[in-house]
Amino acid sequence: MGKIVIAIDGYSGCGKSSTAKAVAKDLGFTYIDSGAMYRAATLHFLNNFLSPSNPHEVEKALNSMEISFQINPDTQKQETYLNGLNVEDEIRTMRVSERVSEVATIKEIRKELVAQQQRLGRKKGVVMDGRDIGSVVFPQAELKIFMTADLETRAYRRQQELLEKGEMIDLEEIKTNLAERDRVDSSRSESPLAKMPDAVEIDTSNLTFTEQVAQIVALAKEVIEKEKDYAGNH
Ligand code: CDP
Ligand code: CDP
Repeated sequence: MGKIVIAIDGYSGCGKSSTAKAVAKDLGFTYIDSGAMYRAATLHFLNNFLSPSNPHEVEKALNSMEISFQINPDTQKQETYLNGLNVEDEIRTMRVSERVSEVATIKEIRKELVAQQQRLGRKKGVVMDGRDIGSVVFPQAELKIFMTADLETRAYRRQQELLEKGEMIDLEEIKTNLAERDRVDSSRSESPLAKMPDAVEIDTSNLTFTEQVAQIVALAKEVIEKEKDYAGNH
């Protein structure tokens, strides 16, 4: 199958990463979770008591962190590593969620992580989810999706996810966190979250997971066919 780049952007908790993962699996593409990279960077600030508002400490953080992904041989799932340590579970905790949007406003951090994301996607055949994938990381992506869902639905889904991992968090606390991250992510000066004019908007509030995956896979196959026809005619 032809290789394209699929960029999935949208608000927190609307289903981007789980959908992107399933779409990648269906198409035989690689899934890249850009949010995991911002979360790992945030954990690095927290673990080393570095302040995101102090430029020297930001530089120190950049010089001492290495973020990578590895496939777990038992589960075949992609996991995030920070300086050689598996941080996949730790980066999903509320402790990190509460600070990540602040770290994600820092220009120098974004520059470094965007460069790494572009390297990971340079051979195409990738599905990447985040906030600035269609606008900054891959503005030429062949397929851009902008995902949404109402806040109540998103908070409930996230609560279930945290519960499965043994973290019992009040629904209101999750709602506040999601809404606050949406606000910071959409209003920051560096690469704010916004729907690109060429993105297809998908509201997942009333869709099943299977439906939203099928919609994106169908769109991707259409684009791949068009690319094939275009290549055949030129
Ligand atoms: O999964 P969830 O929607 O909770 O968030 P995430 O995708 O893991 O991203 C966590 C945070 O990282 C977001 O709230 C943004 O502040 C930041 N982020 C970003 O700024 N740009 C990206 N491409 C991805 C994430
Ligand atoms: O990446 P993002 O923060 O946008 O969302 P996520 O981490 O994929 O979390 C969404 C959660 O809602 C996952 O547990 C999904 O299985 C679940 N879900 C969904 O994404 N779509 C539905 N239609 C129903 C549930």
